Amino acid sequence: MQVDILITNIGQLLPMDKKGPVRGADMNDLTVWEDAALGIKGNQVAWIGAMDETDQVEADEVISAHGKLVTPGLVEPHTHLVFGGSREKEMALKQKGVPYLDILKQGGGILSTVRSTQEATHEELVDKALFHLDRMAMHGITTMEAKSGYGLDRETELKQLKVAKEVSDKHPLDLVSTFLGAHAIPPSYKDNPDAFLDHMADLFDEIKSENLAEFVDIFTETGVFTVEQSRRYLQKAKEKGFRVKVHADEIDPLGGTELAVEVGAISGDHLAVTSDEGIKQLANSDTIGVILPGTSFYLGKETYARAREMIDAGAAVSISTDFNPGSCVTENLQLIMSIAALKLKMSPEEIWHAVTVNAAHAIGRGNEAGSITIGRKADIVIWDAPNYMYIPYHYGVNHVNTVIKNGNVLFQ
Ligand code: NIG
Ligand code: FE
Repeated sequence: MQVDILITNIGQLLPMDKKGPVRGADMNDLTVWEDAALGIKGNQVAWIGAMDETDQVEADEVISAHGKLVTPGLVEPHTHLVFGGSREKEMALKQKGVPYLDILKQGGGILSTVRSTQEATHEELVDKALFHLDRMAMHGITTMEAKSGYGLDRETELKQLKVAKEVSDKHPLDLVSTFLGAHAIPPSYKDNPDAFLDHMADLFDEIKSENLAEFVDIFTETGVFTVEQSRRYLQKAKEKGFRVKVHADEIDPLGGTELAVEVGAISGDHLAVTSDEGIKQLANSDTIGVILPGTSFYLGKETYARAREMIDAGAAVSISTDFNPGSCVTENLQLIMSIAALKLKMSPEEIWHAVTVNAAHAIGRGNEAGSITIGRKADIVIWDAPNYMYIPYHYGVNHVNTVIKNGNVLFQ
């Protein structure tokens, strides 16, 4: 067989080829091929075999993995990629113990980024998003979700979604777009959140017809949107043909997880303070639990999502950075993998399912991303690591050696 690129001397290859989403105890069952090789033709994986079978293959280019780990490109199912400005000044408030929701109530937090995003031009936002996207790619991400939600008015929400679209066209990474107009209540609607939600729902048709987002998301939280308001809003989104997501039970246990299950959300995200009942319902549903432990860490919480109980009850769990300027300011999903090991007590096997196949399913890309399978897009990372357990173990640095996206070498 003739291929364009042959990766040889793979110490460990994680195909992640289980039909997902992978749930419960199955998340702990990881396939590992040792002494493997992998052929890429065009943008696809064309051949996978053992090192002693490589004489069957002729390659234009050979890349030796030098006995290292090779995995699918990582998938990020929850980010707030497009935003203006930054919020480093809030760190001092956090250190003084001012709660995240109080900062928001005083017009800071999300609302401060809303002002910066409203002021930024389309071009400025494109440049900034590309900068962060490059950094994501350098850390091994090859497919990613991006939310709006720092506009809270028609013009700026559409601007954010159009920026995401342009960035997706310009950058080799694959982006999946989510409309999060229901991210906070802007000051002008302070006393009338229902009218604000109606205003955001009025954008559904335009967003759909211009293909600007696949998913609709809402922040169900104290001082933001109630479960009832969220239910009505998500129902409308579904009627317009969107699949939905929920920022659920991040700070207060309002029952956002149960709502995500009830409305058939593709994912319920955060789940830091999900109730026992929420865990049970999640485990018995098709909704994927996207846990964002970097947010608990960054907001200085003692409590982390009960990932162990969720997985032990049979849920399909993913993890993600939640990259945003307020509650988790990092593009490094590898760091989140370490936090998942240390604070969520997830096993390395569970963590790898969480950042590949399950993450892909959480953004409707289960048949395209998160797996090394013959005929699929060649999105592949070679790691400076001897085995898969090493990535969560050695924390806080970037272990990427080589990133291949769609069959093209992005970084080496
Ligand atoms: O997922 N919680 C709501 N939204 C983001 C944070 C946004 C921000 O603080 O700017 C989150 O944590
Ligand atoms: Fe978020």
